[in-house]
Amino acid sequence: MSVFGMGYVGLCTAVCFASRGFKVIGVDVEHEKVETINRGIPIIHEEGLPTLLAESLRKGLFNCTLDFKEAIRATSTSFITVGTPGKPNGSTDLSQIEDVSRKIGLALRDKSDYHLVVVKSTVPPGTSEHLVKRVIEEEAGKRCGEGFGLCVNPEFLREGSAVYDTFQPDRIIIGEYDEKSGSLLEDFYRAFYAKAPPILRTTMVNAELIKYASNAFLAMKISFINTMANICERIPNADVTVVAKGIGLDKRIGPSFLNAGLGYGGSCLPKDVKALIRFAEQLNYEPELIKAVEAVNSKQALKAVELAKEALHGLKGKRIAILGLSFKPGTNDMREAVSIKVVKELLKEEANVVVYDPVAIPNAKRILPEEVEYAASTFECIKGADCCIIVTEWDEFKRLKPEDYLKLMRRPIVVDGRRIYDPREYLGKVNYLAIGLGPVQTGLNRPF
Ligand code: UGA
Repeated sequence: MSVFGMGYVGLCTAVCFASRGFKVIGVDVEHEKVETINRGIPIIHEEGLPTLLAESLRKGLFNCTLDFKEAIRATSTSFITVGTPGKPNGSTDLSQIEDVSRKIGLALRDKSDYHLVVVKSTVPPGTSEHLVKRVIEEEAGKRCGEGFGLCVNPEFLREGSAVYDTFQPDRIIIGEYDEKSGSLLEDFYRAFYAKAPPILRTTMVNAELIKYASNAFLAMKISFINTMANICERIPNADVTVVAKGIGLDKRIGPSFLNAGLGYGGSCLPKDVKALIRFAEQLNYEPELIKAVEAVNSKQALKAVELAKEALHGLKGKRIAILGLSFKPGTNDMREAVSIKVVKELLKEEANVVVYDPVAIPNAKRILPEEVEYAASTFECIKGADCCIIVTEWDEFKRLKPEDYLKLMRRPIVVDGRRIYDPREYLGKVNYLAIGLGPVQTGLNRPF
């Protein structure tokens, strides 16, 4: 099979398929990326990927190329995994989808065997039918269902656990143009997984919608718990982490995606929520709930700055340490990372900002304003600081003790933006402020 677009989803998918003995060709338009991957260097930070990549290259089960015609000729199925970035107005830039569809169509013109095309990229409902199918048909001079088949197969893997998620998905969604296309893809997945997860077969448009609905629902859970956090902060002895635990025990609600914090970032949730809003508006529907999810999220990052400002009675000239820059732990991805908003707001308040992240600093340097100072370690970052804000919950920050802050900081003020510490361990030792933690009434035996 061939995989078009060697980004996060494409590279992980290709290498995971290859690791189970399938022969996979990765296709990309960037010469340097192709070369780097072929040398065994994954272009992204992802647990387990370097080993799988090295093995599949060594066994000759995977290689990367710029030659899309040869990739189509040599394979029977092509997955489209190119990027679908958001435009400034929230709608989706489909130029890469169009370009790759054109190339696939062009290559199919010279191929007599049936070929299955699978859209894995997140695309607005209707795109596979009205763009991908149309363009391939035009270029190939063949009709969908005759010379080639078409499926929509959305991807639900998370950055940071992409390899694990590919091997252990909760479900597989197959949106099929026709029965033959769907059955071919289902057969592949049944061969790939020793024990296949539930497989839902449906229309292409439903599959496209399921992807947006999933990400919007996850975003809604986060904005919901952040709303509860903001309420908790105004109630003595309230703690959102306990509230989340309590509601999460209800099977209908479930415990995941209820971590209150500074909001969601990354390349998917913010973009997909915006795209769904835009899409609904184009249908003359006002998606009030989804708009509220976005509005809550866009303010949430600034809560960290507010807490710091309050504790320090103003931020001008203060040294603020930021622990964590990537949009979540386990990745060096800085796209839409909450840290960007926090750092910019602190600089606007004329604070001096020093930052540390175990893996994201090279990427951060390309994105954050020049004034930012970069520390080489957690300890170096908090040393001499007036306040420390936890922005990304990397494990190494969890290991810090109140004594470390007390010893190294100028003023031991800790803003726990991701609720990584137990307040009972921190309160009374350092000035501990946290998202979703109400004012603590002293003198109580059991404050939480
Ligand atoms: C998300 C979805 O979880 C995947 O299922 C989907 O495949 C992917 O988007 C995509 O569309 O490609 P990802 O962007 O890797 O995956 O990251 P998440 O784990 O969903 O986290 C997103 C953001 O939400 C992070 O900034 C994280 O810190 C935040 N978050 C997550 C919270 O603030 N609270 C939580 O309880 C969970």
